[in-house]
Amino acid sequence: MDKQHLTKFYQKTKQERIEALVSAGLIHEEATTAFSSKIHLSDEVANHMIENQIATYQVPLGLGLNFFINGKDYAVPMATEEPSVIAAASFAAKTIQQAGGFKTTVGDRAMIGQIALKNVEDMNKAEEIILQHADAIIDLANQAHPSIVKRGGGARSIQIRKIQADPTYQTPAFLVIHIHAQTLEAMGANIINTMVEAVKPYLENVTGGTALMGILSNYATECLVTATCRIPTNQLAKEPYTGEQVRDRIIEACQFALVDPYRAVTHNKGIMNGIDAVVLATGNDTRAIEAGIHAYATRSGQYRSLTNWTKAENGDLLGEITIPLPIGTVGGSISIHPAAKFSMKLLGNPAAKELEAIIASIGLAQNFAAVRALVTEGIQKGHMGLQAKSLAITAGAKGDQIEVVTEQLKQAPNMNLATAKAILAQLN
Ligand code: MEV
Repeated sequence: MDKQHLTKFYQKTKQERIEALVSAGLIHEEATTAFSSKIHLSDEVANHMIENQIATYQVPLGLGLNFFINGKDYAVPMATEEPSVIAAASFAAKTIQQAGGFKTTVGDRAMIGQIALKNVEDMNKAEEIILQHADAIIDLANQAHPSIVKRGGGARSIQIRKIQADPTYQTPAFLVIHIHAQTLEAMGANIINTMVEAVKPYLENVTGGTALMGILSNYATECLVTATCRIPTNQLAKEPYTGEQVRDRIIEACQFALVDPYRAVTHNKGIMNGIDAVVLATGNDTRAIEAGIHAYATRSGQYRSLTNWTKAENGDLLGEITIPLPIGTVGGSISIHPAAKFSMKLLGNPAAKELEAIIASIGLAQNFAAVRALVTEGIQKGHMGLQAKSLAITAGAKGDQIEVVTEQLKQAPNMNLATAKAILAQLN
């Protein structure tokens, strides 16, 4: 890729940006037609997507640049309302690109369906019986969804969890059966829910228990992805700190987020700034991904940092993130929402595993940018620079006034709405 084309991308007009992306080889010429066609959700489609629809709600769609993942360049579509997210991700990705980029490992992509049984008289006996009937249960699940089996996926195994009655919470015992199934390119909620509902009566029969429910678990611990990066210290120096000092401060910031849940929540929120933006842009389920990832952050019994920053033997900074990422590339709103289709097209219609790799890398980049800023100059400098534009618009600036007010606001001793209004009043 010729990176020259992307220099000062943010200062280009929209048309120049499209041309730059084509020149850089990041998108194909034919994909550019999608930029001029309507990618907005029509009222008609929106009305079919939900009940009681009255309007559509838009957020900006931008591109995270400089992402070099497993030896391939990406411009990553990100849907977000937060001014600094894409700038921060692109900045971090540039540093990481210069250091060799991101490497990822994507697991098996198995989704979990749960059937909860109550009133099981003898849990150990029931467990034994279920294990004896494991093949029949898997067959039943697969018969309930033959099309996924035809495509090469389907239920693969079962797991049994015995949850004892708990007097503290006054809860009864539950015998929980997990079905692990490969849903291929789909996130798989419908596939899994069909399967678990189909095996519910069979499980009641063989155990004598009563099924409370059968449902997908959004805690997708069998669908993990890891992204890593390695940054030499000579790329980390930031006045007044040396590269080694910045590295050590980033490691300490991560240690702080490992041991303090109050910090960990904010640390992980920064990671989710990037992850949610790509999940939303590609038409995936932001709530499912959020719920699963935050639960994964508590897997040790305490809410902790999702990333890990450490020092390599040669002194480089090593970054790593592992998260559950049950995203899909088909189904749901992915194939309906024109902006989601557009985003997928921009990415070259990646398979689900490739999309997982991209999203995990964004999360790691976003964390690097936030933590690096926090342990050096602080985040307000960069944030407020970008916030200035929002303040100018809120104050009522229009057209060319937006840039003028923004620039004056950045120089002002107090960057706030009152100052923005005063600057605008003077201009008018
Ligand atoms: C702001 O949206 C995100 C940060 O607070 C993340 C962090 O503190 O690591 C900057």
